[in-house]
Parts: sequence; structure tokens; C-alpha cells
Amino acid sequence: MLNPKEIKKKFPILNQKIHEKPLIYLDSAASSQKPQQVIRKMSSFLRTDYANVHRGVHYLSQQATDKCEQVREKIQKFINAQSSSEIIFTKGTTESINTVAFSYCQSLKPGSEIIITEMEHHSNIVPWQIACQKYNLTLKHIPVLTNGELDLKAYTKILTKNTALVAITHASNVLGTINPLKQIITQAHLIGAKVLVDGAQAVPHFKVNVQELDCDFYCFSSHKLYGPSGIGILYAKKNILDTLPPFQFGGGMIETVTLDKTTFAEPPLRFEAGTPPIEAIIGFGAAIQFIEKIGLDNIHRYETALIQYAHQKIKKVSDLQIIGTAEHKVSVLSFVLKNIHAHDIGTILDQEGIAVRVGHHCAQPLMQKYQIPATVRISFGLYNTFEEVDILIQALNKVKKIMSLPKSPKGDD
Ligand SMILES: Cc1ncc(COP(=O)(O)O)c(C=O)c1O
Repeated sequence: MLNPKEIKKKFPILNQKIHEKPLIYLDSAASSQKPQQVIRKMSSFLRTDYANVHRGVHYLSQQATDKCEQVREKIQKFINAQSSSEIIFTKGTTESINTVAFSYCQSLKPGSEIIITEMEHHSNIVPWQIACQKYNLTLKHIPVLTNGELDLKAYTKILTKNTALVAITHASNVLGTINPLKQIITQAHLIGAKVLVDGAQAVPHFKVNVQELDCDFYCFSSHKLYGPSGIGILYAKKNILDTLPPFQFGGGMIETVTLDKTTFAEPPLRFEAGTPPIEAIIGFGAAIQFIEKIGLDNIHRYETALIQYAHQKIKKVSDLQIIGTAEHKVSVLSFVLKNIHAHDIGTILDQEGIAVRVGHHCAQPLMQKYQIPATVRISFGLYNTFEEVDILIQALNKVKKIMSLPKSPKGDD
């Protein structure tokens, strides 16, 4: 069984006070904190092992190359891809999605359709809008039901023989909803469409098996997975990758270059132009090792209990509305409090040492759907505790008290 108090000790940043209160970090969906193991691994690599990869014959360069390739293999196993050549290093989820949008879409027939959903992060909306303008494609979306689940009847209706790709989040960064991907992917494949999954909010919380899902593309970021920022993954099935043109051009992705012409390397290098964030790749490997030692099944079990507890407690706060009550959720909880702006709530919670995220969470279409400007979002990592939920509830009651104080008589301010 996972012991969050012991785990928390492994995260140096979490053992500090903010505004003289012990830090309660409830913003892991934006970015998770990093364990000592990751920090140590990156710093020792920089101290004794650093060199550029792929180009050197010298010892350090070869060692650095080998270490990065070992991380690629570790990630292949982490998501159960068939081959490490299906794992492309990118800057993060956003760059992974852009790569597919501007590589895969190039060869689509004008009039082909891309389907997204109303719950996507802007990273999985904007690239498709721009690719649709550029390549004369049509963008459609699956609506979200009031409880935060997808309207799958509507999906069946908008899926047509013209659908080329469905781009969908595995788990919503606002609602927490875990989408029923198996069904969605099977339906898409039946009509010959490909499926890209934005896994940014899924991989930190439960085991992902890309072969079992049978998705064509899967994207995620290291920084939400207890690893460093600046590095992420695009997984793509090998037979698809082999047919895709590169998205960025330069060193590292070529086979031969003359002044007139270039031929490209095989995947994955074809999609990795320029020097990668080498030390971040090493840190990413350490983060995966950290998670695997604890076990994603243990993490999932613990976080599910924690989010259920938070739901039970938080819904007792009067005038509070939870946004997103789907049956299957990751440990993300958004809410609004009647007549109190999310930014005021976030600011008062901060004074209590509690870090939450407020705003539209890069999901403005979802805010428009619920007709709200913003939510407060709490999101748990494996270091959060039941006691922290209790402190949050006390702090929310304090917010209500402060914000409901009678206004001073006119002229007194
Ligand atoms: C669901 C989802 N997709 C995509 C992203 C973008 O990730 P990144 O900024 O690491 O590229 C995020 C980040 O919050 C996210 O939550």
C-alpha cells in the first residue's frame, strides 16, 4: 500500500512553508513536483556524463547517446509500445500533437474531417483548427454532457466515411473524466479513421497500454509525470510513422544532405530535429523508474480513494458546485462557489499555503459550455493526503466567511 507521507519526504519542494503555512500542493495536473531521485539523477548526469548525442565518436557522447536510447526503451515498455522506434522525443504533449497535425494532415484529401471533443485542452484544439485551414479540412466535435461525460450518441452521428482522424483526450484536465477510449477507437477504426490520444492527464494516474488501446498516436509530457519539463513523447504505430513526412527540419533528422537536396533518417530520428533536451531525457527516465517502483496500480488505487474522499467532503460545502461528475475520473476536481470568483478563492487559499489552479485551464470551449468564466481546480499527485483534503475544506469555509463579510458603509473604504 502506498504511503503518501513517506513519499512526500522524497519531494524536497513539498517540505517547506508558504506564507508560514505548510505547503499543500494541489496543482499536479498543471505540473507535478519532482522527487529527489530525479533531481539527483539530472544533476549527476550534468556533472559527470553530459555531452551531445548522436554525433560524437568520443566516450562521453556515446555514453550520453546510449543513456538516452535506454530511456526510449524504458518509455516503450512503460506504455507497452511494440518497438522503441515508435517513441519520439518531443518538447511535450503540445509539440507531439502539432507534429501529427502538420505531418499526418498534409496528405489528406481536402474535405476530410477531423473530430475533436468539447473537453479538449487548447493544445488539442488549436493545431487542428490551423491544420484544417491550411489543408482544407473540416473540424467537428463531440459535445460534452452536463455530467462531464462525452455524448457518444453524437459521436456515432458525426463519424462519417470522410473522417480521417479523431483527436481525443484520455482524461480531461478540467473535469477529470476518463473517456471510454476502447469504444471510441474501435468505432473510428471501423470506418478507417485514425485516433490520436492526448494522454497528458492519464499517464500519471493509471497504466496505459497503447497496444491494448490500439490507438494510432499517443502523446504525453514528462513534467506531469514527476519528471522535468521540456520533454515529452509522441508514440505512433510504426507502419504509420514510416509513411509520415517530418514536421521540423535540421540536424539529427537527416540521412544525407547536399546543397540541393536532403534525404531523411528513419523514424524516430526523422521526427527529432536539433539537439534534444538531453538532461531532461535522463530525468524523464528517472521519473519513470520512480513511478514503476511504487507501481501505477498502487497509485491509481490510492488516488481513486483520495478523489472520492475529496468529492464527499467538498460537496458538503454550501453553495459549491462540482464541475464534472463523471463515473470514471482521475484525481482532478473542479468547482465553482456561488458569487465568489475563482481568482479570489485561489488567492485566499494561497495565503493558507494551499496551491490550486484557477482560470479556464486552457479549455475555454468547456467554460463556454458550462457558462462560467473559470473554475477552481484541485488536482492530486501521489504525495497528497487525506489530511490535506480536510485542511482544504477548512480553508474553503474560511474563504466563504471572508468573502461574505458585510461591506463597509459607503465612504468608509
Ligand atoms: C489534457 C492536456 N493536454 C495537453 C496539455 C499540454 O501539455 P504541455 O503543456 O506539457 O505540452 C495539457 C497541459 O496542461 C493537458 O492537461
